[in-house]
Amino acid sequence: MAIGSASGKIILFGEHAVVYGRPALAVPLNDLRARVRVQARADPGVVICARDLGRTFALETAPPTDPLAAITYITLAELNVPLSTGLELVIESEIPLASGLGSGAAVSTAIVRALDAYFERALPAERVSALVYETEKMYHGTPSGIDNTVIALERAIHFTRQTGARAITIARPFCLVIAHTGIASPTKRAVGDVRRGWEKDPARYDKIFDEVGALVNRAESALARGANEELGALMDQNQELLRTLDVSSPEIENLLTAARRAGAPGGKLSGGGRGGNVIVYVGPADAEAIQRALLAAGAAKVLQTTVRNE
Ligand code: MEV
Repeated sequence: MAIGSASGKIILFGEHAVVYGRPALAVPLNDLRARVRVQARADPGVVICARDLGRTFALETAPPTDPLAAITYITLAELNVPLSTGLELVIESEIPLASGLGSGAAVSTAIVRALDAYFERALPAERVSALVYETEKMYHGTPSGIDNTVIALERAIHFTRQTGARAITIARPFCLVIAHTGIASPTKRAVGDVRRGWEKDPARYDKIFDEVGALVNRAESALARGANEELGALMDQNQELLRTLDVSSPEIENLLTAARRAGAPGGKLSGGGRGGNVIVYVGPADAEAIQRALLAAGAAKVLQTTVRNE
């Protein structure tokens, strides 16, 4: 028997623009994890049991477009394990689906890690990330690769499509409240809509992406200097640009307004948008009051996390 697990993720700054080559900052969300248990089965062939989805199926019966089946096929091929090997994979995840917190990439990463541990191979993190990227294309359409990268590396990163990931410095830990709008929003749809907008008016969209990129650089500098008091305003500015890209929603704006009224210095959607989660920068003393305000405003779930260098 072997277990593999992987964290969720938060995009701090730069989602969507990162698909178009601009930088973004992301951190692992260790408070929410996906876990996969692999064990031997008496009969030949692989069976996948996705508890949260209420699905149990034989690998050979799944369509090739099924992301759970795809990552299992890809990983078994990578590890040179015949498909006739009798295996059961049991998947459990605490990460809400279609919520911007990287549930798809985390489940895929946990599958790779569990199979890797079961067959005692020790694949490097970069290879795990590359395998997961293959299935990210199924979840997202045109993924930048930031989700699989931050989840495989499990550290705070600056990411661009051209240069990949490098570690960033978080000089002083800070608190975030994460609030779920209660609306599932597949990243693929929001990413597809932004692409259609960009295709119609590339000059306008490229200008917005450049502005997001500039904010990302300012945020990285603030984090490195420990100037956390700048983060709220930077998040608000990033949110304004995301609104211009039309990936916000009334539910997101409602939660952000409630958080600001309760004293939060700023916040933004995180991930694909249109639903999913918002992140709100909070001082530790205000975190509880802001969580209460978010729940009163209709948040389906709230969570507090501390972001720090690993
Ligand atoms: C999804 O977590 C972040 C997006 O920028 C998409 C991507 O980077 O692939 C919206």
